[in-house]
Amino acid sequence: MTKAFVFDAYGTLFDVQSVADATEAAFPGHGDIITQIWRMKQLEYSWLRSLMGAYEDFWAVTRQSLAYTLGVLGLEASPALIDEIAETYNSLTPYPEAEAALAALSAYPRAILSNGSPAMLDALVGRSPLAPHIGAILSVDAAGAFKPDPRAYALVEARLGVKPADVVFVSANGFDIAGAKRFGFRVARIARVPAAAVRAEIGKAAQAGLLPPATFYKALRTQLEGLGFAPDFEVASLSELARLPGIAPAAH
Ligand code: LAC
Repeated sequence: MTKAFVFDAYGTLFDVQSVADATEAAFPGHGDIITQIWRMKQLEYSWLRSLMGAYEDFWAVTRQSLAYTLGVLGLEASPALIDEIAETYNSLTPYPEAEAALAALSAYPRAILSNGSPAMLDALVGRSPLAPHIGAILSVDAAGAFKPDPRAYALVEARLGVKPADVVFVSANGFDIAGAKRFGFRVARIARVPAAAVRAEIGKAAQAGLLPPATFYKALRTQLEGLGFAPDFEVASLSELARLPGIAPAAH
């Protein structure tokens, strides 16, 4: 029975592509490549740090992955500029449907479980219109390991007192969907980028002889992983969660 909804933050409630204006403003002509390599490296560094037993929080990971990205592109940036660009992660734009979709689930406790550090998540959610609709904000920092490490997902039962089988865990990130399903949650995938759309973009890129960084990112990070842990539900946007089977209408 569904007793709570737990949401991933970056890429699920908040659009990580909304850093694009800041990366383009700082380095005109390089915005897209910075935005895509940065996000890919940010997640890679979170996984590597968990595997290496060398946890540092997501703010450190966000800065280090940005520094890597600029370095590899040969772009000079002072520590202050790196901080300034990294800070955009603390004011990402929520997806347009997020606020109404959370309101429509008001019969349930709604929480966030995110890789973000507590300070990042407080800033991000606090500055957004989503704040009144979110109860607990759980940061994996308390576990000292990033998703998809099971220790991160275990925070949900420890903090909310809800068994994994009674949680609908909502994510648009393939690795997070697989990890959450492996852990034992019921999982709803937000399929923001249809497989056919990725194929069409790649087909166009092949014809043009040029693969845009955003297309490469979509192929790697927006699709269902082939790890054998399929989600229970698949919807095109957060708005559809309230229409899943057995979901109670919003409390008035
Ligand atoms: C998060 C990243 C994984 O919010 O999207 O945890």
